[in-house]
Amino acid sequence: MLLEYSLVQGLLGALLLAPTTVATPYSRNHRRRDEYVWPTEVADQAHDSSWPDFVNKTTRWSTYEPPSFNEVFLPENVEDLSIGLKYLSGAGKTFLAKSGGHGYSPTLHAIQDAVMINLENFDYVTVNEDLSVTLGTGAKFSELVEVVGNAGRELTVGACPCVGAMGAMLGGGLGRFQGLHGLTSDALRSARVALWNGTIVEASADVNQDLFWGLRGAGQNFGVVIDAIFETYAATNGGQQYSSDMTFSADKLEAVFDVTNQLLSDGLDPALALAIAIGSNPVTLEPLILVNVVYPGPEEKGQEYARLYSNFSDSMTEQMTAWTNLANVALPSVVISGCPTGNQHNQYSIMTKDLKTEHFREALESYRSFVQQHPTANNSVIFIETFGQAGIKAFPDDFSAFPHRNQFDNAVVFSMTYADVSVAEDADAWALQWRDHFAQPEVSGYDKMVIYQNYAHDDEPLSALYGYDGWRHERLSALKKSYDPQGLFNGYHAVPADLAGWS
Ligand SMILES: Cc1cc2nc3c(=O)[nH]c(=O)nc-3n(C[C@H](O)[C@H](O)[C@H](O)COP(=O)(O)OP(=O)(O)OC[C@H]3O[C@@H](n4cnc5c(N)ncnc54)[C@H](O)[C@@H]3O)c2cc1C
Ligand SMILES: *[C@@H]1O[C@H](CO)[C@@H](O)[C@H](O)[C@H]1NC(C)=O
Ligand SMILES: *[C@@H]1O[C@H](CO)[C@@H](O)[C@H](O)[C@H]1NC(C)=O
Ligand SMILES: *[C@@H]1O[C@H](CO)[C@@H](O)[C@H](O)[C@H]1NC(C)=O
Ligand SMILES: *[C@@H]1O[C@H](CO)[C@@H](O)[C@H](O)[C@H]1NC(C)=O
Repeated sequence: MLLEYSLVQGLLGALLLAPTTVATPYSRNHRRRDEYVWPTEVADQAHDSSWPDFVNKTTRWSTYEPPSFNEVFLPENVEDLSIGLKYLSGAGKTFLAKSGGHGYSPTLHAIQDAVMINLENFDYVTVNEDLSVTLGTGAKFSELVEVVGNAGRELTVGACPCVGAMGAMLGGGLGRFQGLHGLTSDALRSARVALWNGTIVEASADVNQDLFWGLRGAGQNFGVVIDAIFETYAATNGGQQYSSDMTFSADKLEAVFDVTNQLLSDGLDPALALAIAIGSNPVTLEPLILVNVVYPGPEEKGQEYARLYSNFSDSMTEQMTAWTNLANVALPSVVISGCPTGNQHNQYSIMTKDLKTEHFREALESYRSFVQQHPTANNSVIFIETFGQAGIKAFPDDFSAFPHRNQFDNAVVFSMTYADVSVAEDADAWALQWRDHFAQPEVSGYDKMVIYQNYAHDDEPLSALYGYDGWRHERLSALKKSYDPQGLFNGYHAVPADLAGWS
């Protein structure tokens, strides 16, 4: 969701300013920890905090409730990774893999004084002869899009270029193409995984089918995915997309949601992607509304959708642009050069069927007072992703560990951003309160709480992330027991090894 911060800052820049699950503790060491040393083959790839590059190699996107590290391991190849994992699990060390470093779940706070396994050396992307793509886990969305797009192909990716492509896939992987092609994980053909003890296995529809199923939706739980092969699809509209960004004053909220609800009630065009942000003018602290429309199809059709909004917008830009370029130009004046780190990002989210206007009006007014009381948190936003559904629904319900095929209409995110930590407590309380408000069945339109795993906080029932069906719990817990018997991969929304652990 860098998108939304960029959106707010970028548009305002243009317009105004010129720019609960805790890792299981275990102690099964026969020897003291310091009696273990890195195997000689990989010793030069492990560094403690005295290494000059230590901060650079261990920095992650968000500093909210973060994991902490006292060593970093940068394996150069699969064999090194295997040796390193075997060593770490044998030595009883806590470790955490890093791909794009954009995971922001507070569950990661359970990982302290750990070894970071920095996977940046696995940053390859190759289009194969059969037009599938091989993705190394160190690659970011920007790299995946560039290579696949230049081959005249596409697949579902997230909107932010610096997010880890594999990292996002592990929780499902939502994106603007999902209405056409399903989730990023729906395109997965096979993956290579390094297990806790260094064993390398393959997972696909043919081998280790159970692991293959679990990797797609709960994939942070079973090992380190090294690389994977994905299906790609012929570029829609020759790879050209219509994109429009618009701004609205707060009094237009009803009109914006009326148009959006009209589009939803007609059955959202599978190709259409809408993003709505309620943000703040950083000078006046007045709320404002941003709408981004992306349509991979004829310009006139995209314009038709955008005109429904631009009719009453304060500003509007539009263009036809290549999919490969979209991260750079979909949002005016935003140069995605930084994907900046160093801020606290505390986000709560909820999936909803409905976007009930009156509730967004209440949320906007409450957001207005929150920002006026806490001006340094004016980069915080309420963000809504409304993307096509048909591609997700096209796969059977039990296709993968992603459980929300028929309940994935709108992602509503309460995203609190600040550098000044004195606002942390109030920001958390505010976002939590509104997440809870929108989670009520009469507001969300779903009978139970539905959460996208990668957007989850740490307080939701695990069933909201992984599904409420007993068979899903059984299948995931069995996988956990067999692939991660010691709970070494429990940092990110850990699947419980026992059925009793489900909430
Ligand atoms: C700015 C921003 C924009 C986003 N936009 C989208 C979006 O459009 N669509 C979407 O679906 N999601 C999006 N997300 C959510 C994103 O999918 C998650 O934050 C995801 O965890 C990021 O993966 P990463 O590799 O960057 O993070 P990391 O922090 O590196 O990884 C996240 C977790 O996965 C584990 N992990 C990483 N790599 C592996 C591996 N190879 N094998 C096993 N475990 C691994 C890590 O140990 C960690 O627990 C966004 C997040 C941010 C911050
Ligand atoms: C780490 O260093 C590289 C190379 O100088 C730089 O591009 C990158 O932004 C740095 N990352 C962080 C998090 O400081
Ligand atoms: C634009 O607004 C006018 C008046 O508000 C309305 O009559 C017209 O139908 C709108 N056009 C579109 C394309 O929505
Ligand atoms: C808005 O937030 C930015 C970043 O925290 C800060 O520099 C700026 O002063 C804030 N605006 C106001 C009016 O306080
Ligand atoms: C490694 O771990 C896996 C998963 O727990 C297990 O199936 C396998 O037998 C282990 N391999 C060895 C050599 O112990």
